[in-house]
Amino acid sequence: MDHTSRRSFLAASAALAAAGVLQAHARAHQPQGDAKAPNDPHKRGPVVIASLNGRPACDRAAELLAQGYDPADAVVQGVRIVEDDPNDDSVGYGGLPNADGVVELDSCVMHGPTHKSGAVAGIRNIKNPAMVALRVLRETDHCLLVGEGAYLFAISKGFRHEDLLTDHARREWLNWKHNMSRDDDWLNDDERDAPSGKTWDLLPWQSAPGDDNTPRTNDGPDFRKKTSARPYIMEVTGTVHCSALTAGGDIASVTSTSGLNWKIPGRVGDSPIIGAGNYCDNDIGAAGSTGRGEANITTCASARIVDFMERGMSPTEACLAMCDYIVKHTKEKRLLRPDGTPNFDLKFYALRKDGAYGAASLFSGGQFSAFDGSGPAKVLPMAFRLQRPNA
Ligand code: GLY
Repeated sequence: MDHTSRRSFLAASAALAAAGVLQAHARAHQPQGDAKAPNDPHKRGPVVIASLNGRPACDRAAELLAQGYDPADAVVQGVRIVEDDPNDDSVGYGGLPNADGVVELDSCVMHGPTHKSGAVAGIRNIKNPAMVALRVLRETDHCLLVGEGAYLFAISKGFRHEDLLTDHARREWLNWKHNMSRDDDWLNDDERDAPSGKTWDLLPWQSAPGDDNTPRTNDGPDFRKKTSARPYIMEVTGTVHCSALTAGGDIASVTSTSGLNWKIPGRVGDSPIIGAGNYCDNDIGAAGSTGRGEANITTCASARIVDFMERGMSPTEACLAMCDYIVKHTKEKRLLRPDGTPNFDLKFYALRKDGAYGAASLFSGGQFSAFDGSGPAKVLPMAFRLQRPNA
């Protein structure tokens, strides 16, 4: 660490300690891979980190890096596995739809060596938004295409128009629609008379459902209570993030999502917004996030984490400092628990230029994926700031 960065690191640490943010429980959960000393020769690339659901993305990206692919292609092809997976209802094909039952996807890619980004937002009927985002990065002068324009751009590049709404996602959406209000004409679950026997709800071309109808999230706890009046108002967010560092020290990062389920059509989250859900600086490192996008947009979360690392924090410290920033800047009452802390979760992932990496979530219990030399990618616990209720 050079003198300047050591001094700024010490200053930053002192400020954090004074603010009471370097709490013992967070230090106790420092995951593997994190390191304070930049330029540790044992911690060079290839390293790939991802959200928990991005574990296969880590292995695929590492495989492609070994074959000499650009890190942007490696991470995009990595998250493509998650986008293609119908069982992940937070990303790509099978993603939960908006309030109208339409799947709208967001993604952005950032390429460290050129400091370029590409993104698509609210794109419909295209399964792999991260691949389209990379085309925007490589083949246009723009950073972000939205909606119809993004769709037509993808079609012009040979991407296929596909129906992205799986039966599972459609059933989830109908559950929400039926139960969202007692005042509408959709019967809530508890307003329906029990049938006298089994019911045949499948359409002729549908096979029997193999899963239950339980909404789920890969972004941690949802603390909003179900009430009998609004039993299914669970705003679930998932998302996949993946960052990679090559053996030569180049960095790229990607985030892809179907966004907040039941969102107002046209809502764009943090995932396609550079600096919010994803950011990378080839001289410093990369950061990304999954969880409540609105909080990341209003705090410029990913760019801020990279900035924290530039000021000398380790990746985990930078992610924890971002958790503190979120806690401090969550001011709306509807977003607060009785103790004044947020009622939503966020997860942050950071990868530094020297190969050190880390992650932290607001609430305990989070995990992330990391490939740091040999596969398969590991699943590691995340540092955290707040104890998950009932944990
Ligand atoms: N972080 C995903 C979203 O809020 O859309």
